[in-house]
Amino acid sequence: MNVLILGSGGREHTLAWKLAESPQLTQLFIAPGNAGTAKLGTNIPIGVSDFQAIKEAVLQYQIKLLIVGPEVPLVEGIHDFFNKDSELKHVGVIGPKKQGAQLEGSKEFAKEFMIRHKIPTAKYRSFTKETLEKGYQFLEELTPPYVLKADGLAAGKGVLIIHSIDKAKRELKEMLTNQKFGEASQTVVIEEYLDGIEMSCFALTDGKDYVVLPNAKDYKRIGEGDTGLNTGGMGAVSPVPFADKKLLATIEKTIIRPSIIGLEKDNIDFLGFLFFGLMIVDGKPLVIEYNVRMGDPETEVVVPRIQSDLLELFIATTTGTLSNYQLEINPQSAATVMAVSGGYPEKYENGKAITGIDKVTDSIVFHSGTKVDADKIISNGGRVLALTSFGKDFKEALKKSYASLKKISFDAMNYRKDIGFDL
Ligand code: AMP
Ligand code: GLY
Repeated sequence: MNVLILGSGGREHTLAWKLAESPQLTQLFIAPGNAGTAKLGTNIPIGVSDFQAIKEAVLQYQIKLLIVGPEVPLVEGIHDFFNKDSELKHVGVIGPKKQGAQLEGSKEFAKEFMIRHKIPTAKYRSFTKETLEKGYQFLEELTPPYVLKADGLAAGKGVLIIHSIDKAKRELKEMLTNQKFGEASQTVVIEEYLDGIEMSCFALTDGKDYVVLPNAKDYKRIGEGDTGLNTGGMGAVSPVPFADKKLLATIEKTIIRPSIIGLEKDNIDFLGFLFFGLMIVDGKPLVIEYNVRMGDPETEVVVPRIQSDLLELFIATTTGTLSNYQLEINPQSAATVMAVSGGYPEKYENGKAITGIDKVTDSIVFHSGTKVDADKIISNGGRVLALTSFGKDFKEALKKSYASLKKISFDAMNYRKDIGFDL
């Protein structure tokens, strides 16, 4: 079977790496891919939102399965586009249609879904320009800190956590009347602040049956001790050490299963990954957000722990035969640490030559933002490489990733030295 993966980050490199070991794979294509995916298949230089060019590639290379890495093409309706096209209809797509993708594409839609299906989440109300005054009143009723969320996709920047009421009001106004996050903040969700510890769970579903994938915890802030600006993610561990059997059973019973059943009840035809961003408050899990794709860098620790054939699992998902699927998981821990460009998540430079990748023996080097330039590998993004290792626990795995990072170098390389510090 010929397969096309859409995307160019560490998530897509990891999916490519895992699919490459499947005996069912004939040829692998990645669009646009990076220097890491180029070693596992053929990179095609087209953007993830260029549906017409993707269609041409699918026909030219006789692709039978499309795996959509990032959320944007899903929210834009790539699955619907395939479904409605007589030449593409038969191609399996991993990733929900536009309606289901709203679980990530609209915070308000996600909140309404959770309330409708009694899935635990923070109390909230949503506001528009017309109801700004009511928004101020609602803020007065809450206790700080205040959580303001742009309704739409804002590349991970749309959530503000603010301590002063005056600043919260100013920011609400900025979002609603000055479109601080463009169209994404035409509606703003204000919600109760949840004080707890975060973790993430993942399911792969055909809309009816599902398999629960290994869980993970990621580290979003740029600075040590979880300080500074938010990034796409600076590292991750799997499994989450504090997630015992009892907590995982509660998560499945109160969150994962009701979410899948909710999709079915709402007649939302959902096929693909469902990512549950959770806050555990006094032992009780609540949903902070849904994503309709895998996380990055969570994929770099979740997927390597899957021992089953991933292509077989995807085929079971697209053919609706997940019900008896037994997922095999490596009981070892995995950890990944992200090497980023100096300056990220603000301004940074691309094009730095990367050395030492070939010297790494104890970790897997997943490429996040790289490209091939003549015979060199150069940086091409804020997040550059993710070094994943295994160990008997997350500490042993991290030790290996940190030792491997010492062998790698590029100008102004930066990484967090404290992944897992809070566990
Ligand atoms: P998101 O973009 O939805 O992942 O939110 C970014 C981060 O904001 C999350 O990872 C949490 O750390 C934090 N966050 C979001 N919602 C809440 C909440 N209701 N209470 C506390 N922290 C939150
Ligand atoms: N690492 C967080 C995300 O992928 O959304």
